[in-house]
Amino acid sequence: MVTSWANSGSRDLHLDLREIIKPGARGTRELLLGALRDAVRSGRLAPGSILPPSRSLAADLGLSRNTVAEAYAELVNEGWLASRQGAGTWVLNTGGAQAPPRGRGLRATPVHNLMAGSPDVSEFPRTEWAASARRALSTAPTEALRMGDARGRPELRDALAEYLTRARGVRTSAESVVVCAGVRHAVELLGKVFRGRGPIAVEAYGLFIFRDALAALDVPTVPIGVDERGAVVDELDGLDTPAVLLTPAHHSPFGMPLHAERRTAVVDWAQRTGGYVFDDDYDGEFRYDRQPIGALQALCPDRVIYMGSASKSLSQALRLGWMVVPDNMIDAVLDAAGGQQFYVDALTQLTMADFIARGSYDKHIRRMRMRYRKRRDTLVEALSGFDVGISGLSAGVNLVLTLPDETEHEVLRRAGQAGITVQGLAIMRHPLAGPDVPNPDGIIVGFAAPADHAFTPAVDALLQVLRASGLAR
Ligand SMILES: Cc1ncc(COP(=O)(O)O)c(C=O)c1O
Repeated sequence: MVTSWANSGSRDLHLDLREIIKPGARGTRELLLGALRDAVRSGRLAPGSILPPSRSLAADLGLSRNTVAEAYAELVNEGWLASRQGAGTWVLNTGGAQAPPRGRGLRATPVHNLMAGSPDVSEFPRTEWAASARRALSTAPTEALRMGDARGRPELRDALAEYLTRARGVRTSAESVVVCAGVRHAVELLGKVFRGRGPIAVEAYGLFIFRDALAALDVPTVPIGVDERGAVVDELDGLDTPAVLLTPAHHSPFGMPLHAERRTAVVDWAQRTGGYVFDDDYDGEFRYDRQPIGALQALCPDRVIYMGSASKSLSQALRLGWMVVPDNMIDAVLDAAGGQQFYVDALTQLTMADFIARGSYDKHIRRMRMRYRKRRDTLVEALSGFDVGISGLSAGVNLVLTLPDETEHEVLRRAGQAGITVQGLAIMRHPLAGPDVPNPDGIIVGFAAPADHAFTPAVDALLQVLRASGLAR
């Protein structure tokens, strides 16, 4: 499956292009080339994203169709994009900042979606969701259609407080829950709250999207190391930082939990210094070998801000997330959000409230947990004949394959040519991470992303790439 231009975060890009490329200006072809290269390199155009047809992009930007078609052809030639008659033009994988080698002779294969972070949305529980949506709309009080509590609908906050307490061990009541448009939005709100108080500490490997979102708000980030016990939280003592963003239950991307001693140590740091911990519990429900590790927030609800979303459990496209915010922080967060619930529509909130309260959310998660567990086992088994390492717990929707040195780029290039969307590790590394932070080559395989029928072909295609890269044992 591929991501279309319209839902790959490309609306911003589209607007950016219009800013950069003014009709009638000179050198528009070079400007377009530069802007598209930057977008792929930075990840704003994710691997697998389909670009708009040259005719419509040309019309939108006030350029000739030839200019756009030539720019696409050039980028195909450079190895950033691929195209095929009838299938359009799409973004290939890149390993980070460097330009990919020239990618001639692209094979006409379908795209295999192994993109990190995505659930199998072909299993979205449409029937149950539609039933919840119908019930939510028919029983919604009239006042639900007016702008209401900035924290979100009380029905959803009640349902989330019950769910998060039961399933993730979070210590909360509905009063402390703030509904937001995903974890990314939560990070942005916190960025606004903490702006001007010094850089926010982040894991040396972590989601670049969050670093970029903070940078866009003029909030710098500073990396702390990551080792097999998770984030090296002792390093916080040497930094003048008001907060740290962590993935304690399941490190993103390497997949280990934050060691118990470090969980205690980071809470101790927060209490000693008046700092805060942002607990990104992005996939906490998906543990396959034992009970999930509970949220860090439970250790210290006064200094830990819990964040979660429906992006792994249901769909990233819902843009539905939540925070559990300490009392001492809630006004600042609501101010940062604009003082009203501007982001998540009330009917989606009421639908989700019904969906949780009826047990449909738990049921869906149980079903997907079994399915993902099987997929992960199949993938691990299939990889046993290859010279790759597998990092992390039996959990989540991704698997990190560590590769021999200097092979990531080649594997990504071959994967791109085979039509596989897969993420490289390099892009997850903080640009300021020092030489003492190990710098492994690797790829992040999103085994949850494809539909069931597409999973085996996608894994076969990946194994073929590893074979062709000389990594079979
Ligand atoms: C580490 C991490 N945090 C959070 C998220 C979810 O972000 P959002 O809720 O904004 O979709 C993801 C999804 O890819 C993730 O990988």
